[in-house]
Amino acid sequence: MKIPQDLFSEFDLETGSLKGAPLIVRRLSDLQGSFADTKAYEAALKRGDPIIYTVAAMQDVEGEGGLHFGLGRIMPGNIGGEYHLTKGHIHSHRPASEVYIGLKGEGMMLLEDERTGESAVLGLKPSTAVYVPGHTFHRTVNTGSGPLVYIGVYPANAGHDYGAIAERNFRKVIVAREGKPLLLPREDFLKQINRS
Ligand code: F6R
Ligand code: MN
Repeated sequence: MKIPQDLFSEFDLETGSLKGAPLIVRRLSDLQGSFADTKAYEAALKRGDPIIYTVAAMQDVEGEGGLHFGLGRIMPGNIGGEYHLTKGHIHSHRPASEVYIGLKGEGMMLLEDERTGESAVLGLKPSTAVYVPGHTFHRTVNTGSGPLVYIGVYPANAGHDYGAIAERNFRKVIVAREGKPLLLPREDFLKQINRS
């Protein structure tokens, strides 16, 4: 059997690149509305526009039963105490699920069921995998001191819907408290920062 190019991939954990795949770069300015503390966000943007994360996605295989996968790499840091995060999305084809596999660093997956509003938070680091069921918004958060690198594998027909969550954001936030991650309802965190 001759091996077509789309059956083999090489990825680089240090650069976040996947040979043959375009690298999507998300800078701080691309994350308008994602962080809870808008004042801290605007202040950080005035200081610069660093890369927050990159994604390199292999999307060659098409059709029913096909799989796509993406290599994500999130830089460490926080905005107003909220750890660096991805925009987050739900799959356009709602039943499409996904498996995330941690490759480097330390982080968490924030899940939210679109139908019930229920949240779940799960650790993501090397030797762990997180199953994201269908109908679930998902966001990845870097809670460590170095880059968080992971791979996500999802059906080729999943599609990405960013609009549904961008309108109201996730109900929970993951913030640094005494150097450790703490999960809080967004409302509670907003009350805390508005009081201080
Ligand atoms: C694909 C997937 C991941 C994300 C990546 C970046 O379905 O879930 O590969 O695309 O973690 O996050 P977003 O896409 O939310 O910017
Ligand atoms: Mn996804």
